[in-house]
Amino acid sequence: MKVVTAELAATAVKPEQYPKDGLPEIALAGRSNVGKSSLINRLLQRKSLARTSGEPGKTRTLNFYRVNGELYFVDLPGYGFARVSEETRRQWGAMIERYLTGRPVLKAALHLVDLRHPPASDDVMMREWLRHVGIDSCVVATKADKVPKGRRAAHAKIIREKLGLGEDDPFLIVSAEDGLGRDELWGWIGRKLREK
Ligand code: GTP
Ligand code: MG
Repeated sequence: MKVVTAELAATAVKPEQYPKDGLPEIALAGRSNVGKSSLINRLLQRKSLARTSGEPGKTRTLNFYRVNGELYFVDLPGYGFARVSEETRRQWGAMIERYLTGRPVLKAALHLVDLRHPPASDDVMMREWLRHVGIDSCVVATKADKVPKGRRAAHAKIIREKLGLGEDDPFLIVSAEDGLGRDELWGWIGRKLREK
C-alpha cells in the first residue's frame, strides 16, 4: 500500500465528533501500551503522526487518521490500564464500546496483543466481545522484534490457544520497530475494505 496522504482528521470522545464523510474505518483495539499508535505510524510510514509513549495511557480519545482520502484508521484508548481511576477507566470503556457498536462504516478491527506474553483476561474478554457483537477482527501480535525468531511460533501458539482462534481466524505477527508483517496486514485490510 502506497500511502500518499495521512493526517489526523478528528479526535473524538462522542459520536457527534466522528468524521461525517462516510469513508470506511479500521479500528485498532488492545491493552494500553501494546503498540496501537506505533503500528499506525508503521502502517502509514510516518514516524510520529500518532503520538506514542512508553507510559501506558497515552491515547485518551478516539483518533481518526485519514489515509489517501480513502479510509480511516481509528486509534482507540487502551484497556487494562491500572493506573487511572475506576471512573476514568469506565469512561474509556464506554467510549470504546459506543464506537465499536454504533458505527456503520466500521469495516473491521485489528485486535492487538503483545507477542511476548500470554493474553491477559481482558484480552480474552475483548476477543469474545468482538466476536459476540460481530465485528470482523484480525488478531495482531505486536513487538515481534523483542522475541527471538526461534521462539515466535511457540508464543503465537499460546496466544492462539488462549484466545480460542481457529485455523481460519486471521492472525498476524508484526513489529512496528522493523516493519515485519506490514505488507501482510495491509493485504488483510485491503481485502476487508473490498469485501463489503
Ligand atoms: P496507549 O495509547 O497507552 O493505549 O498505548 P499504545 O497501544 O498506543 O502503545 P504505543 O504505540 O504508544 O507504544 C507503547 C510503547 O511500546 C512505546 O514505547 C513504543 O515505542 C513501544 N512499541 C510499540 N510497538 C513496538 C514494536 O513493535 N517493537 C518495539 N520494540 N517496541 C514497540
Ligand atoms: Mg496509543
